[in-house]
Amino acid sequence: MVIYVYIRALSGLNIPQEHEESGLLVYFAQQLDSSITWRDLEWLQSLSPLPLVLKGILRGDDATRAVECGAKAIVLSNHGGRQLDGAIASLDALCEIVEAVDSRLEVLLDGGIRRGIDILKALALGARAVLLGRPVLWGLAADGEAGVAHVISLLKDEFDVAIALSGCAKLQDINSSLVFKS
Ligand SMILES: Cc1cc2nc3c(=O)[nH]c(=O)nc-3n(C[C@H](O)[C@H](O)[C@H](O)COP(=O)(O)O)c2cc1C
Repeated sequence: MVIYVYIRALSGLNIPQEHEESGLLVYFAQQLDSSITWRDLEWLQSLSPLPLVLKGILRGDDATRAVECGAKAIVLSNHGGRQLDGAIASLDALCEIVEAVDSRLEVLLDGGIRRGIDILKALALGARAVLLGRPVLWGLAADGEAGVAHVISLLKDEFDVAIALSGCAKLQDINSSLVFKS
């Protein structure tokens, strides 16, 4: 697992402009620190009373380590499939991770949430909530703040319909029996 911490100054990103290749690539490479280990999470935790949430967990053993490090939540994520080609899909890792953490922290999930039914599947398999990446950006590009609100509203409406069509009266009725794995 790669743990990375990125801190962006409010004044904006300092992306090299004069590089022969992609300045963005150079900038991104500067944000990765391969010397960071699980022990650094203790230091990170000591800086603030805020709950520690680890993003990018895709394995049960890493999820167990996150519990041991005192994390309050993890985000199952392959970073939208933009980092390691061929990485497992978040949803496919969900069952193993939910079993490993055994309710000791919150399990959130992102990656590929495009329709209300995707939210239903993630909750059915044990996620507490889902997060959105590109759909928010698409809404933003199409119509700014209103576009983002529209994307969220569409997903919420689709989710409501998906719950109803599954025969669930409330969130607590959603469970793994709704999902058939071929
Ligand atoms: C343009 C772009 C930039 C991103 N930059 C980061 C980043 O700096 N750090 C990070 O943890 N994830 C980053 N991500 C991944 C998102 O946080 C998120 O995990 C992913 O987009 C979720 O998948 P989805 O886009 O299918 O919803 C980025 C995603 C996109 C599309």
